[in-house]
Parts: sequence; C-alpha cells; structure tokens
Amino acid sequence: MKIMMGILYFLHLAGFTVWLGSMLLLAILLLAMRKNLGEWNSKPLFLLTASLVKWVLNGAALVVLASGVGLVQTLGLTTGNKPFYVSFMEQTGGMTILLFIVLMTWFSNRASKKLREDKNQAPGAFPKLLARYSAALSVFLILGVSVLLVVSFRVL
Ligand code: HEM
Repeated sequence: MKIMMGILYFLHLAGFTVWLGSMLLLAILLLAMRKNLGEWNSKPLFLLTASLVKWVLNGAALVVLASGVGLVQTLGLTTGNKPFYVSFMEQTGGMTILLFIVLMTWFSNRASKKLREDKNQAPGAFPKLLARYSAALSVFLILGVSVLLVVSFRVL
C-alpha cells in the first residue's frame, strides 16, 4: 500500500508540475506572440500551442485528477472530517481541472479549425483570437496557483 501511495503521490506532483509549468511558459509565449504580431509568423506557433494544450497539458491535468482520486481512496480521506485543504483541493482543484480539460479542448479545436479554414480572415480576427486564448489560459494559471497556495498553507 505504501508503494502505491508513493507512486500516486509522485504522479500527482509530477502531473501538477508539468501542467502548471507548461501553462506558465505557454502564457508567456502567447504574450510574446501578441506583442510581435507584425514581425513573427505567429499562426504556426499558435497551432503548436493549441496542440500542446490538447495533448500535453490535458494529459497532465488528467494525471493530477486521477492520482488525486487515487490518493483520497488510499489515504482513506473519504469520510466527512477531512482537513480543509483536502476538500478545497478536491472541490476547487477538481473543478478547475475538469473545466480546463473541457473548455481548453473546445477552444483549441475551434481556434485551430478557424485558422486552418479561413485563409482570408478579417484583419483583426487573429489578434482577437490570440487575446482570448491567452486570457483563458491565464485564468486557469491563476486558479492553479491559488489551489497550490491554499494547499501550501496547510502548515498553519
Ligand atoms: C489544481 C489542482 C490540484 C493541485 C494544485 C494539487 C496539489 C497538491 C499538492 C501540492 C499536494 C501535496 C501536499 C501535501 O504534502 O500534502 C497534494 C496532495 C494531495 N492531493 Fe492534490 N492537487 C490538486 C488536485 C487534487 C484533486 C482533484 C484531488 C482529489 C480528487 C487531490 C487530492 C490530493 C490528496 C488526497 C493529497 C494528499 C494529501 C495529504 O498528504 O494529506 N488533489 N495535492
């Protein structure tokens, strides 16, 4: 059982690290794309970002969720009187991850399709799309950091 717990713990923290770290770097990359629209050919970079979000970040998010559920079972935290940070992680963290997977998959598919299909887009369409995508990713970044902050303060 201890081995199982160690593996789940590792997967939980490794998944979370990859998820949050990738989100941070992609949010910075999107900001740079928005600033250098004139000079950079940002469309291929955006398509790469969207596919990384769909495959790498969603995968890491799923690992965090599944290992979290596994940890709750292994540690026997299914009863009512669990510590606040665990219920917060389960509820707010779980909801954040589920919303991330559903919304970002939908957003990534829609944006990539639009970019590939409309070769003669209206001039302002791509910057607008970039701004929205980067805002959505930043919101999830803030939510992820907030959950981490609450969990860190369990030492209080
Ligand atoms: C954004 C989402 C999440 C973040 C940032 C996060 C972060 C963390 C961190 C940093 C730890 C280690 C803390 C410690 O040493 O105890 C941890 C442990 C744990 N997480 Fe999460 N987690 C998230 C989602 C979830 C979800 C969705 C669940 C359950 C469904 C979950 C269940 C657990 C459990 C049971 C532990 C072990 C608690 C303990 O050691 O007392 N986590 N999580």
